[in-house]
Amino acid sequence: MFFLLLLPQWISTSETIGAYTWGSRVCVCVCIIRIFLGFPTLLFSFQWDAITEMDEHNRPIHTYQVCNVMEPNQNNWLQTNWVSRDAAQKIYVEMKFTLRDCNSIPWVLGTCKETFNLYYVESDEPHGVKFKPSQYTKIDTIAADESFTQMDLGDRILKLNTEVREVGPINKKGFYLAFQDIGACIALVSVRVYYKKCPFTVRNLAMFPDTIPRVDSSSLVEVRGSCVKSAEERDTPKLYCGADGDWLVPLGRCICSVGYEELDGSCHACRPGFYKAFAGNVKCSKCPPHSLTHIEATSVCQCEKGYFRAEKDPPTMACTRPPSAPRNVVFNINETALMLEWSPPSDTGGRKDLTYSVVCKKCGSDASQCEVCGGGIRFVPRHTGLTNSSVTVLDFVSHVNYTFEIEATNGVSELSFSPKQFTAITVTTDQDAPTLIGMVRKDWASQNSIALSWQEPDFPHGAILDYEIKYYEKQLSYSSTRSKAPSVIVTGLKPATKYIFHIRVRTAAGYSGYTSPSSLCASLSASDMAAEQGQILVIATAAVGGFTLLVILTLFFLITVPSKIKNLRIIFKSLNHIYRAKIRRLKTYIDPDTYEDPSLAVHEFAKEIDPSRIRIERVIGAGEFGEVCSGRLKTPGKREIPVAIKTLKGGYMDRQRRDFLREASIMGQFDHPNIIRLEGVVTKSKPVMIVVEYMENGSLDSFLRKHDGHFTVIQLVGMLRGIASGMKYLSDMGYVHRDLAARNILVNSNLMCKVSDFGLSRVLEDDPEAAYTTSGGKIPIRWTAPEAIAYRKFSSASDAWSYGIVMWEVMSYGERPYWEMSNQDVILSIEEGYRLPAPMGCPASLHQLMLHCWQKERNLRPKFSDIVSFLDKLIRNPSTLHTLVEDILVMPDSPGEVPEYPLFVSVSDWLDSIKMGQYKNNFMAAVYNLLSLQIGVALIGHQRRIVSSLQTLRLHMMHIQEKGFHV
Ligand code: ADE
Repeated sequence: MFFLLLLPQWISTSETIGAYTWGSRVCVCVCIIRIFLGFPTLLFSFQWDAITEMDEHNRPIHTYQVCNVMEPNQNNWLQTNWVSRDAAQKIYVEMKFTLRDCNSIPWVLGTCKETFNLYYVESDEPHGVKFKPSQYTKIDTIAADESFTQMDLGDRILKLNTEVREVGPINKKGFYLAFQDIGACIALVSVRVYYKKCPFTVRNLAMFPDTIPRVDSSSLVEVRGSCVKSAEERDTPKLYCGADGDWLVPLGRCICSVGYEELDGSCHACRPGFYKAFAGNVKCSKCPPHSLTHIEATSVCQCEKGYFRAEKDPPTMACTRPPSAPRNVVFNINETALMLEWSPPSDTGGRKDLTYSVVCKKCGSDASQCEVCGGGIRFVPRHTGLTNSSVTVLDFVSHVNYTFEIEATNGVSELSFSPKQFTAITVTTDQDAPTLIGMVRKDWASQNSIALSWQEPDFPHGAILDYEIKYYEKQLSYSSTRSKAPSVIVTGLKPATKYIFHIRVRTAAGYSGYTSPSSLCASLSASDMAAEQGQILVIATAAVGGFTLLVILTLFFLITVPSKIKNLRIIFKSLNHIYRAKIRRLKTYIDPDTYEDPSLAVHEFAKEIDPSRIRIERVIGAGEFGEVCSGRLKTPGKREIPVAIKTLKGGYMDRQRRDFLREASIMGQFDHPNIIRLEGVVTKSKPVMIVVEYMENGSLDSFLRKHDGHFTVIQLVGMLRGIASGMKYLSDMGYVHRDLAARNILVNSNLMCKVSDFGLSRVLEDDPEAAYTTSGGKIPIRWTAPEAIAYRKFSSASDAWSYGIVMWEVMSYGERPYWEMSNQDVILSIEEGYRLPAPMGCPASLHQLMLHCWQKERNLRPKFSDIVSFLDKLIRNPSTLHTLVEDILVMPDSPGEVPEYPLFVSVSDWLDSIKMGQYKNNFMAAVYNLLSLQIGVALIGHQRRIVSSLQTLRLHMMHIQEKGFHV
């Protein structure tokens, strides 16, 4: 951050390279490389005296003093010894001194001075004893604070002054400092020389070395990080070192390798019993069930004995084992088919990939003399890899004992050497299947159901287990149900639809054949029909009655109250008036490209000017189509006005002429004090010209750069308010600018800002900031919302994003957004949640508004009307602008962490700005109950809006409470 120097931590970001302390009490040095305690013998001193005084605790203070205030033309020098500059290019000199004011010394008028001079000279090595003032370069004249002598109980006491000066770039290996007295009364107490650096840090598991900032304070040093031990790179880790020794914009990251987890910024090996199978910043996990490890840094745990991991099993999965045998095997047999069914094993081994295989054996009376059935027998669907727990056996021979062994297997069965677990069943193929059942009767039917019954079969050949009833409308798919009794009620049928029913009986020996199809239809009985018709009649009667009553009442009103009709007409008339006024206000922007001939659009929206009325005075710039000039426009009966004239240079193509004039067609539709005004066009003679109002101060970005630090915050907010007002007008008209940036705002002599540079896509072609994106469009990346960059979703919400960037440009006096980061890095860092920090001296409320504008979710960004009212409020209550971001930076507890920014606008303003003002009271009450956050916002959408806004603003409630900030 920019402000670290002002905060207690700054010492860690600077390095002291030399300190000269003659007094011990006031010394603040942390790291003294070359110091003189007592009187420095290496200093050259000419008329400066080394004097020791005692402080109130009777400790010596060593000082260098000079006080030749009575004699004119003093030239007294004190020089330090040679100081190595180490890695620094820019150094800081902090001097502590006392200085007597001349008024406090009688008879010295004309000879006494109140300043001294600080000098330096660079050299690669110490010079030896020769001191030559002519070789020295002056750094500055040093004066004391405004009140450098104080009265205390009648005694005059000297105040200690502290002054710091920058020197650099220093190119040689070291330097000397020298202090020149020209007749003042000075005591130099200490001198500290230091430089700033971005200190070694670890971010996102990447290490960044000590880095010296650039001398040029507006540029950053890009530093590549290297991963900590046992970590690997994901996106290239990078940080930028800022001029004040603070790290900015973390990009990319490293992640802990397999077997290692992140803990306090480094990667630690997983403990025994834990593993991490994938690189990433997740924690080590306990070994999955039935696996273990006795060593550290394990990526995969080993399976316990009897448990296995299949080739495709992930390391996160438990180890498993083969299943136990299937259970409850039964069979059903008829003349031609034998159906085997079973239940799944009680232990699936912990897996879901269970399949079955069936082996057929023919056994004699001795079970040990079995042989595998020959090829004659068939299994449907097959005999191995069965996923269902049933199989049909065909083509078997009568009067044979068949033994079927049914085995369950899973993905690890092959890895196990233990014997196979199967269940066997023996079937003798001499049982008779049941006979067919007889006729099926329809007992009754309702709209969706039908009741059927039938006779039991004459020869079931055993106990009847149940009946299966199969039915369908079309033969493509069917449903079935079972019944123990010879009757069934089938429900869920479609009304008035024919269904086909088949029924068969099941005994221990298998199924009978199906009955022949019975085509039956579910329909209403006569009584049901009567009831339903009755209901319909009641509803119809009520409807007709109600309508009749309405007609009668209307007629009654019209006939009995004719006098009211006149009043109604008046009401209609005024409504019409309001409606028309509204229509007028809602004038919308018309895209000139929708005109078949765009030159017609120009004449619809722009006045043709006779060139004789224009006086061109001088060239003030160059546009893509030709020069931009300033000049005068004379309108009959009016005063001459200053204008800017854009010209279309000769030799243009039709297309260029059209593109040139399209800006006029757009500008001509606008009429607002914060939009650049079109005076007219010259199209009927050459050169073709666009004439607009003249803006004395040119474009906003260069204007601010030229007047860096010259304006009050209120003046800057006034400019921003004007731009927001112009943008509100444009968005109300449905016009999306797409290239809102300080360079496209013009400033007049009253500091009024006006939006300019219209022309949709052409604007972007012109803009030197616009770069080609991967989708082929040309876009000014730093000013553009992420959705517009990613998929060209331009809208007033993307203009609001750009407006936030313009705010940042204005508050930083024309600094380049994201400094010299590459476009690619800007896109990446925005995606990672980084947002531009508040410029130096920026009120916190304005930086919050910027952050509002930079919300990823475009619907949460403020509308331009919100922005205008928010800025109006700030202007009305200038005290809200007094709190600067640097005043409320919450410094972290440990060095190296990024300072937090507890945004603090009044809750009331903030809620108003996101249109959630109705929750103000609840919120105020909730401030006392922040942790529970029971703020009574019932609507989920509203909650989300508030929470998301809170997140984006990083408004950390707990911090606010802890640090006692006013909300
Ligand atoms: N440069 C471009 N347009 C201008 C205008 N209207 N006034 C001053 N300078 C400009």
